[in-house]
Amino acid sequence: MRDVQENTKISGLASLVVYSILFTYTLFNILSPSSPLSVFTIAKTLHYNYPRYHLIHPPKGNYGKCDLFKGKWVEDHTKNPPYTNATCSTIPISKDCFLHGRNDKEFLYWKWKPDKCELPRFEPKTFFQIMRDKRLAFIGDSVARNQMESLLCILSQEEAPIDVYKDAKDRSRTWFFPRNNFTLMVLWTRFLVKGVEREGGVYDLHLDQVDEIWGYNVNQGLVDYAIVSSAQWYFRKNYLFQGGKLIGCLYCNESNLTQFKVSFAIGKAFQTALSYINSCQECKGMVTLVRTISPTHFENGTWNTGGHCERLKPYNKTQVVNTLVSSKNNDEWDVRGVQMEEIEKATKKEGQPIFRAMDITMAMLMRPDAHPGSYWRDKKKKKGFNDCVHWCMPGPIDVWNDLLLALLL
Ligand SMILES: *[C@@H]1O[C@H](CO)[C@@H](O)[C@H](O)[C@H]1NC(C)=O
Ligand SMILES: *[C@@H]1O[C@H](CO)[C@@H](O)[C@H](O)[C@H]1NC(C)=O
Ligand SMILES: *[C@@H]1O[C@H](CO)[C@@H](O)[C@H](O)[C@H]1NC(C)=O
Ligand SMILES: *[C@@H]1O[C@H](CO)[C@@H](O)[C@H](O)[C@H]1NC(C)=O
Ligand SMILES: *[C@@H]1O[C@H](CO)[C@@H](O)[C@H](O)[C@H]1NC(C)=O
Ligand SMILES: *[C@@H]1O[C@H](CO)[C@@H](O)[C@H](O)[C@H]1NC(C)=O
Repeated sequence: MRDVQENTKISGLASLVVYSILFTYTLFNILSPSSPLSVFTIAKTLHYNYPRYHLIHPPKGNYGKCDLFKGKWVEDHTKNPPYTNATCSTIPISKDCFLHGRNDKEFLYWKWKPDKCELPRFEPKTFFQIMRDKRLAFIGDSVARNQMESLLCILSQEEAPIDVYKDAKDRSRTWFFPRNNFTLMVLWTRFLVKGVEREGGVYDLHLDQVDEIWGYNVNQGLVDYAIVSSAQWYFRKNYLFQGGKLIGCLYCNESNLTQFKVSFAIGKAFQTALSYINSCQECKGMVTLVRTISPTHFENGTWNTGGHCERLKPYNKTQVVNTLVSSKNNDEWDVRGVQMEEIEKATKKEGQPIFRAMDITMAMLMRPDAHPGSYWRDKKKKKGFNDCVHWCMPGPIDVWNDLLLALLL
């Protein structure tokens, strides 16, 4: 524990320049053993936090008491990835890491092993049986899109999809699998709630109003299965509104405004989104999976200050604990907790729609090796930032879809 604290202080100081706003908060956590995110409680959380949720929402089906989200990555060279850039024509260029010169393949050969059971590989035939005549929507930002693209590749090994719709900026998109009469959508939203751009990249967030596009589609009964997520757009300067009134901000550093934690804003937004689904007339039979935050892994900087992610192996437990206390991951873990709480609250209400958590945060915290990093674009053309937010395809993001099918079963 002492070693962990030493490391934490050093990395805490190293990120001072970059995370000046977060710094006081981090330091507070290090110094106060009773604060909710101290080194001690995080270490404890890693071991003991999960059962609380798993007792309330055990995964249904053949998995018994197994918590699919509590486990570890184990090396497994017996299985190849479910697709390659040769067998899936829809891998986006920015996720095709091998196209841009990544040549280590180790990161493809780790299997997610839940502590008390095996997670089966995705079975397209089984998935299509469940999804016949159904519409599934990923509701979220480009990370939601990343999972949709992974699913598209996996399914395309069984049936070729037809590209039926994209909006002007190719953000919302729809694919159709005619043989199975299955519609796969991504409904683009940055925040889940309404965000109005005020100036370059700074938004006014109306925490009590759902964003239009997904709200409309859900309300019209056009979605049977929804996978709802949102997180990374909150980690920047934004202004917060409730009941049309400005209540404060995120990362704004204005003396006349209350500066809130990201987890506060995300908690409110998820509350708004989930109660909207809970009370919507056309959502009675809808199944909603809420995907918890997908963590980022910038080291030695943020996305715009030269941060990078060049690791070739998953983190072990000690490394995860270190990263949780020493960086943005600390706040991300906080966000995951709030998201789980909101799912729990939504589920307690006697409503028709079904809610389940897709709690990938811890599993993905362990995978700093699987982001595109610098391999998301043609380096000869342009120097630029590293992508330590999205995930290479193929890669561990494909496991999210193994988890999706396991949850559906
Ligand atoms: C596909 O991946 C291989 C490595 O597995 C890489 O050499 C090749 O450039 C990639 N091709 C395309 C078209 O993405
Ligand atoms: C295909 O699925 C849609 C719903 O997604 C349904 O309205 C329609 O009736 C189905 N078509 C057939 C031929 O079953
Ligand atoms: C916040 O604002 C104060 C005074 O307005 C200024 O001294 C300080 O450097 C600012 N901090 C950041 C991180 O911008
Ligand atoms: C807060 O102060 C800034 C200048 O620092 C000003 O532009 C803004 O209008 C003020 N906001 C409120 C709500 O008073
Ligand atoms: C990160 O920065 C620290 C100190 O600034 C330096 O010692 C370390 O070598 C850097 N690591 C990488 C991987 O660049
Ligand atoms: C975790 O990884 C670090 C860095 O590779 C290593 O120094 C440490 O011994 C490992 N810890 C455990 C418990 O395996």
